[in-house]
Amino acid sequence: MTGDPTTTDLVLQVNGRALPMTVDNRVTLLDALREHAGLTGAKKGCDHGQCGACTVLVDGRRANGCLLLAVAAEGREVVTIEGVAEAGSAEGLHPMQRAFLERDGFQCGYCTPGQICSAIGALAEADRGWPSHVTADVADGVPDAAALDEAEVRERLSGNLCRCGAYAGIREAVLDVASTVGAHR
Ligand code: FES
Ligand code: FES
Repeated sequence: MTGDPTTTDLVLQVNGRALPMTVDNRVTLLDALREHAGLTGAKKGCDHGQCGACTVLVDGRRANGCLLLAVAAEGREVVTIEGVAEAGSAEGLHPMQRAFLERDGFQCGYCTPGQICSAIGALAEADRGWPSHVTADVADGVPDAAALDEAEVRERLSGNLCRCGAYAGIREAVLDVASTVGAHR
């Protein structure tokens, strides 16, 4: 305890590392990452849960860092764009990062960390059997990541906005990884 009721000492688990910090109780996970941990990959676009630029993975699920308090993230495994690549991976990149490069899935790059984290989370959600708004009939089964079509990818990534309009490349990149997802697990 700091003795100050407005702040909290906590330890965030981020990209496999324990990061101790003292934060104002109101600090979001996004600001804790950017301002306290020096991890500026996750971006602040709207700060209101509307653009997806701040998307990170929390316990393997997509989360808007701007909507989650840092104090609520303690004890959970947070992965940011700086940590998505597995150790020893080709060129130090996650397959989704490689696909974004190959498909020109960005222009200015501001939304890209959030897009990539969101895409990784979206494929994992499909593999868990989570339907989307465009899943035709859950009684017929939810398509796993490898079976996602363009409509599913568009819907599942619809929470991530791109002001540059790089959606065509983003969609192709995600479809590329989805179609080969078995090779990356
Ligand atoms: Fe979090 Fe826009 S900055 S959703
Ligand atoms: Fe510029 Fe998406 S690449 S906002």
